[in-house]
Amino acid sequence: MAEKLVLPGPASEALGKAVAEKLGASLLKGEYRVFPDGESKFTCDEQVSGKSVFIVQSTYPPVDQHMFQLLLAAHRLSQEGARVAAVVPYLAYARQDKEFLPGEGVTLGMVAHLMRSAGIRRLVTVDIHSAEGLSLFSIPAYSVSAVPALVKYAQKHLKLDKPVVISPDLGASKRTEAFARLFEAEYLVLTKSRDRTTGEVKVKDAKLDVKGRPVVIFDDIVSTGGTMRAAAEMVLKQGAASVSALCVHGLFVGDALQRLEKAGVSTVVGTNTVEGERGVVDVSEPIASHLRTIEE
Ligand code: R5P
Repeated sequence: MAEKLVLPGPASEALGKAVAEKLGASLLKGEYRVFPDGESKFTCDEQVSGKSVFIVQSTYPPVDQHMFQLLLAAHRLSQEGARVAAVVPYLAYARQDKEFLPGEGVTLGMVAHLMRSAGIRRLVTVDIHSAEGLSLFSIPAYSVSAVPALVKYAQKHLKLDKPVVISPDLGASKRTEAFARLFEAEYLVLTKSRDRTTGEVKVKDAKLDVKGRPVVIFDDIVSTGGTMRAAAEMVLKQGAASVSALCVHGLFVGDALQRLEKAGVSTVVGTNTVEGERGVVDVSEPIASHLRTIEE
């Protein structure tokens, strides 16, 4: 069997090292540089021919820089004869997986094409926004679930009495249902609409049985926090005892965290697919356990 190596990218240094440790794989050394004008460069002069390399690199903001660093590393290593698999814990552009408005490009399709052109032979991600997105890849593509890890975290740290788990929209409902089942909690789905031109989010009014109960709002991504905020405001208006916001990919763009806090959300937690103070739930084990199943 080919030797397995892990190359942690600059966006996922700690996660990449944790995955390598769990796999018992050696780390590959590479040097990433960003020039003052924004151009990126990758250098690696190690012998990788015939080896399997897992590049672990998330693509949270700065999205395009992180994406390009992944592509550069993949290109260099595949040209040197490595079999390259990309482990992209947060896969940017996964929300643009179809033409929603006339004339829009299917960005995820282009990302899939670029990855393949750069020599990536396999993609592993965590909780891709929609499973349909995987079909845009012509290489084997798999999405690992962070839900069990988030449930463990919630059981250990939130200690909620008769919680209600809420999905802010229909798109997130399957993932949220899986969370609620494992968490052994009641589960409700809200109806959200987003103006695709302005980005403004509205959550449809609904009568919810949340009075006096703690609520967990669960979503795959928190970006501006608009979705979480709208859902939190609605449940608090209806007398929820508290609101915790849990997500897989906490991007928290701009002042998203402050706005959630102002809306009355007491806990905001994501996974380490996105590095930062709120990326506390570790997904190295679910990633490593999927990578262990891959036989080249
Ligand atoms: C979209 O459907 C996703 O599941 C999230 O709800 C969305 O990306 C959250 O974005 P924001 O925090 O900007 O509302």
